[in-house]
Amino acid sequence: MEVTSKFSSYSKFAKVQFVKRIRNGGSLKEVKNMPDKIIKGEGLWNGRLLKFNTLESTNVWAVQHIDFCQNGDVIWAVRQTMGKGRLSRVWLSPDDKGLTLSVVVEFKNNRIIPAVNFAAALAVNKTLKMFSLKGSLKWPNDVLVRGRKIAGILSEAKPERNFVVVGIGLNVNMKKSDIESANFSFPATSMLIEIGRPLEMDILRKVLVSSLEKNIDSLFIHGTKVVIDSWEKYDWLSGSLIEIDTPAGVIKGTYNGMDEQGRLRLIDKNGCENLFWSGDVKKVVAVD
Ligand code: BTN
Repeated sequence: MEVTSKFSSYSKFAKVQFVKRIRNGGSLKEVKNMPDKIIKGEGLWNGRLLKFNTLESTNVWAVQHIDFCQNGDVIWAVRQTMGKGRLSRVWLSPDDKGLTLSVVVEFKNNRIIPAVNFAAALAVNKTLKMFSLKGSLKWPNDVLVRGRKIAGILSEAKPERNFVVVGIGLNVNMKKSDIESANFSFPATSMLIEIGRPLEMDILRKVLVSSLEKNIDSLFIHGTKVVIDSWEKYDWLSGSLIEIDTPAGVIKGTYNGMDEQGRLRLIDKNGCENLFWSGDVKKVVAVD
């Protein structure tokens, strides 16, 4: 039986957690929705890699199973079937052509959460650089290559456990036809399109995990300023006229970077600075 074979590959800790779950009224269905493999040492800070062959969403799984999670866990779905994007969008990664994972990070102060998100985008950017790609960053959490989206980040906090789940979706081996049929809301690309050859997902995942670990360590040691300063070097919106779509309507102005908390600064036509925690941003072309 599938559950038994999965179960035998688990660590003693994981087995104890399962038994506890069942004793506390957890169903077998719930147990079945458990990783296909748990590999120690392949998460952040020597933590665990929870590998699923197929999963609807690594973020949803992590949030729902937060009691099972530990600091540094990487939840990886080889195939993600119902990925969650920002602003209630769907994150599409056809077949197993995208790298889709979530990282569980423990925090002491929730003011750090936006910066964890930025640190993750910078880690994706660094990973791209290792494969000779020049990426740029679009506030709050998109990574672009040649102005096309190649990766997105979705962070969800679980304050009751002081955990933030940082979900990363990277377009890896999608062909042009995959991108076209996915009908993304923003022009998109993949590493295959940009480099011209398919990439080995395991290698890419390890490079990304190591880069995430470095960036999050640096954030916890040096604070948010370091992350925000690094962001500026790759900021795609720098100096642009932008439009930000917020629940209060669309606001137009000049992008003026981020403040120390990660809020977008927009200078409106009256020269006043407006700050935004979230919103959908577009560059606009000036018309006289
Ligand atoms: C966005 O750009 O809208 C954010 C996309 C985030 C997608 C990733 S894929 C892995 C993780 N699991 C999810 O369901 N979503 C995130």
